[in-house]
Amino acid sequence: MKKLGILLSGRGSNFEAIAESVRVGRIEAEIALVISNRPNAKGLETARKLGLKAECIPSAGLEREEYDRLTAARMKQEGVDLVCLAGFMRLLSAWFVEQYPQRILNIHPSLLPSFPGLEAQRQAIEHGVRYSGCTVHFVDEKLDAGPILTQAVVEVFDDDTEATLAARILEHEHRIYTEAIQIALSGRYRIEGRRVVRLS
Ligand code: GRF
Repeated sequence: MKKLGILLSGRGSNFEAIAESVRVGRIEAEIALVISNRPNAKGLETARKLGLKAECIPSAGLEREEYDRLTAARMKQEGVDLVCLAGFMRLLSAWFVEQYPQRILNIHPSLLPSFPGLEAQRQAIEHGVRYSGCTVHFVDEKLDAGPILTQAVVEVFDDDTEATLAARILEHEHRIYTEAIQIALSGRYRIEGRRVVRLS
C-alpha cells in the first residue's frame, strides 16, 4: 500500500477530503503521517480524531531548509511515497523538493499560472476575471509553479465576494485533489517540459 504524507497549516478541509477518499477506497493508499507547522491547526485535531499519526513540528524561528530537514526526516521514517501539501503556508526549500522529485503535490485556489501566492480568490475578483478555479500541481522550489496535474473551472459571478467564490472553488478543490493523487500514485503519466501527459 502506498503511503501519503500530509503537510498542513490550518483548517485542513482538503486533508479531510483526502482522508474520506482513502476511507472509501477512491484513493488506494494510506495516510501515514500528518504534520502541521502550527500547533493550533484544526487539521491536526481532525487527524487525531481520525486516529491518524499527527504531529506538530513548529516552524517559528527556523530557517526554511532547517525546518524542511525535520519534516523530511519524519516523512522518510514513515516511508511516505507521496507528499501532499494541503493548505501548508510555507514555501518548500529546493533541498526538500530534491528529496521527493515529482512526488510532492500542492493545491492552489486559482487557475495557475494566474494568481499565484496568497489570497488567490481575492486577486481573481479584483482582476475582474469571469472564470477562476483551482489547480493541483507538482511542487518545485518556486511558488505555485510546477507541472499541472488537474484543474477545475469555476465561474465568477458579479455579486461574488472573496468568501462566496472561495467556498465554490473549495468544493472543486476537494474533488480534484483526489483525482490528482490517483493519477500521481498510478504512475501513468510522463512529464514533458511543463506538461503532464497522461498515459492510458
Ligand atoms: C485551500 O484553498 C488551498 O487551495 C490553499 O489553501 C487552502 C487550504 O484550505 N492552498 P484547507 O486547509 O484545505 O481547508
